Amino acid sequence: MSEEDAGQAAAPAGDLEAALGAAWAQLRAGDVDGARLAGLRILGRDPEHGGAKRLLGGIAAHNGDLESARLLLAEAAAAAGGGEEAARAVHELGCLAFAQQDYEAAAARFLEVLEARPDHADAVANLASVRLVQGRHEEARTLFERALALSPGNVQVLSALGRLAAQAGDYARSLRLLAQASALAPADGQIEQAVAQVAGLHRLAWHFPMMNDARRNRAFRSAIERRVRPGDLVLEIGTGSGLLAMMAARAGAERVISLELVPQLAELARGVIARNGYADRVEVLPISSRVAQVGEHLPRPADLLIAEVLDANLLGEDLLGTLVDARERLLAPGAGVLPERVRLMGRLVESEVLERYVSVGEVEGFDLSAFERLALAPLMRFDSVRLGNRALSAPFEVIDLDLTGPLALSGSRRIEVAAEAAGRLDALVLWIDIEVDGEAGYSGDPEGAWSSWHQAVQPVAGRPALEPGRRIAVGLEWHRRFAFFDIGLL
Ligand SMILES: C[S@@+](CC[C@H](N)C(=O)[O-])C[C@H]1O[C@@H](n2cnc3c(N)ncnc32)[C@H](O)[C@@H]1O
Repeated sequence: MSEEDAGQAAAPAGDLEAALGAAWAQLRAGDVDGARLAGLRILGRDPEHGGAKRLLGGIAAHNGDLESARLLLAEAAAAAGGGEEAARAVHELGCLAFAQQDYEAAAARFLEVLEARPDHADAVANLASVRLVQGRHEEARTLFERALALSPGNVQVLSALGRLAAQAGDYARSLRLLAQASALAPADGQIEQAVAQVAGLHRLAWHFPMMNDARRNRAFRSAIERRVRPGDLVLEIGTGSGLLAMMAARAGAERVISLELVPQLAELARGVIARNGYADRVEVLPISSRVAQVGEHLPRPADLLIAEVLDANLLGEDLLGTLVDARERLLAPGAGVLPERVRLMGRLVESEVLERYVSVGEVEGFDLSAFERLALAPLMRFDSVRLGNRALSAPFEVIDLDLTGPLALSGSRRIEVAAEAAGRLDALVLWIDIEVDGEAGYSGDPEGAWSSWHQAVQPVAGRPALEPGRRIAVGLEWHRRFAFFDIGLL
């Protein structure tokens, strides 16, 4: 049937409102064409029927014909002349403008609805969404709170408020709201992603022992105080809490630009820095150093780089990639670098406990041994005191990096070590030694004072028996953040 024919066809039984109700039901059931024909039939009977125009406007929008949708909905609003039906049409015009990214028009429509119907929950929520994309976050938050009070089970509102709570640092409320949203819309992947992102922040709890590692803080503070000159532009890579950036400002730097790739940490650090009165000299940018540019993020190449991006196995936070790139692009010629020198140290050990951490065999009657290949990766931030290890060799240097000179992204080395005690060679325990500058140092040696890095533990394949004097070859290759060991008897 053509559209003209449809206009002339007989209307469905009953009055026009019943026909309209049936057409909406058809639309909800997915019969878009049937609903459209029914709408056209109503207009054939009453060419000014606002309800039919709203139905056809919605269908036009669904079919991507946004201009027809806008005209039909505007006519529907005018025909309704106020009341519930007019509010619906105006609200849909707002949604249409929002979809077309005409945010001013969308806001005007939602405000028009709210003038007539202040409790229109969807209009409040949609106005909040407009304010959010316009960057008016505080207004958006207030509106979303109002929408939540009007409609406590609105998934859009729960998830938007959950995201805003995370941005404001209220992670507990964020997770509560996102969990509610996810329970109501279990198949919504975006909500799941937001939950995973906020929940992932718990993994950042490793910052606490680091911030409370007084030996580390003292070593960096004293070197920073020796190296910072008045007028210096200091670049810090890896803001964390902002601690080292504030130390540089307190030591007299004119300006500190501090980069942090985890946006939530950058936001928290800004608060910490403001609370301590350094917001005028320390600027935190929520970006990776890899995308930072002189001219855009730094006014000029920096005079001093501070980069505490050291992992328990030295390389795991991409120390090499970060420093090679920063030296090439972000530092003035002759700029200082803190720390100046870092070493990865090691010792061969026997450990009864380790077996539970690096191997698996039969469990509850099942053979899980195929999983063992995962044991090749080092265990990070492992407390080797808990490992109950027994030293089989003296400590030896595994990697030595002078961060003040040119650096290569890869390297290899072969070290020969003599066993000093008899035992089973279960693992190579690794730790970092830092020369922050020529005077301040730090060691993560497990035989020494507590270290927030703890140690990394590299299991040894085959776990050979050693007797005193037996020589062992430690082969090692590293590529940026990965180190590969090959440990065997000579
Ligand atoms: C070991 S923490 C140090 C935090 C702080 N500087 C301190 O010493 O207390 C390293 C921080 O650097 C950040 N980070 C690592 N590599 C980065 C990079 N290339 N650009 C920006 N931030 C980075 C990490 O997200 C982490 O928060």
